[in-house]
Amino acid sequence: MTKERCIPSHVAIIMDGNGRWAQQRKQLRAFGHRAGLKAVREIVSYAASIGIKVLTLYAFSSENWKRSSSEVSALISLFIYALNRETKNLHKNNIRLNIIGDVTRFNDQLQSMIFKAETLTKDNSGLILNIAANYGGRWDIMQSVHKITQKVKNGELRLDEITEERIGAEMSMGDFPDVDLVIRTGGEYRISNFLLWQIAYAEFYFTDTFWPDFNQTQFDNAINEFNQRERRFGAVLTEELTC
Ligand code: IPE
Ligand code: IPE
Ligand code: MG
Repeated sequence: MTKERCIPSHVAIIMDGNGRWAQQRKQLRAFGHRAGLKAVREIVSYAASIGIKVLTLYAFSSENWKRSSSEVSALISLFIYALNRETKNLHKNNIRLNIIGDVTRFNDQLQSMIFKAETLTKDNSGLILNIAANYGGRWDIMQSVHKITQKVKNGELRLDEITEERIGAEMSMGDFPDVDLVIRTGGEYRISNFLLWQIAYAEFYFTDTFWPDFNQTQFDNAINEFNQRERRFGAVLTEELTC
């Protein structure tokens, strides 16, 4: 009997390589970002169809502001365009959309669109789609610490109540399971300040494929590779873990 494939509950993806994909085609970097949006659509719908519970996509890091103002504006315009165009569709497909990151740096129009999209989809019971925008793993730890210290200051929390669970609960996605699988496209082997706390026991999958070329088949390859891994969580494996 063949073993059934285990579908990771939470997959997080560093969608890298849009710029190089465009450069190879002698196009502007923004062209690559637009092509990347197509790959996002395909991967979101495939993730929902195979029963992934949480999909977290790194769209814009807290360090990406260092890029040229034209590239930053192109990325923000694309984000607005995608929210405008895709929110209804996500809702129709029972997908719950969350934006993680410091959204206060975005203009009022974008902040209000984010709020509307999250509110519209908040009760959906299908795939949870987190888009990391102006996100940094260090920022996330810092904002959790801020919330906790505020509670201590207000007398709502004692020092001995600051546990790992408590810190984790105040992080972005504190109410979702930890990440099982991190995928990075684009050939780099680094985390680039993406999730830090939430990946403590994640498996990593790196591919040279540029994000605009990442498709269902490649996603399947990553999940198949994940199925070959033996997750031990620090213990000595005595029997096969179920997923
Ligand atoms: C990832 O692609 C998208 C963002 C960081 C917004 P890049 O724009 O980093 O593409 P490369 O790595 O330069 O090819
Ligand atoms: C990470 O890619 C950020 C996103 C994919 C959104 P970068 O292209 O910004 O990462 P570095 O600069 O190569 O580390
Ligand atoms: Mg890059």
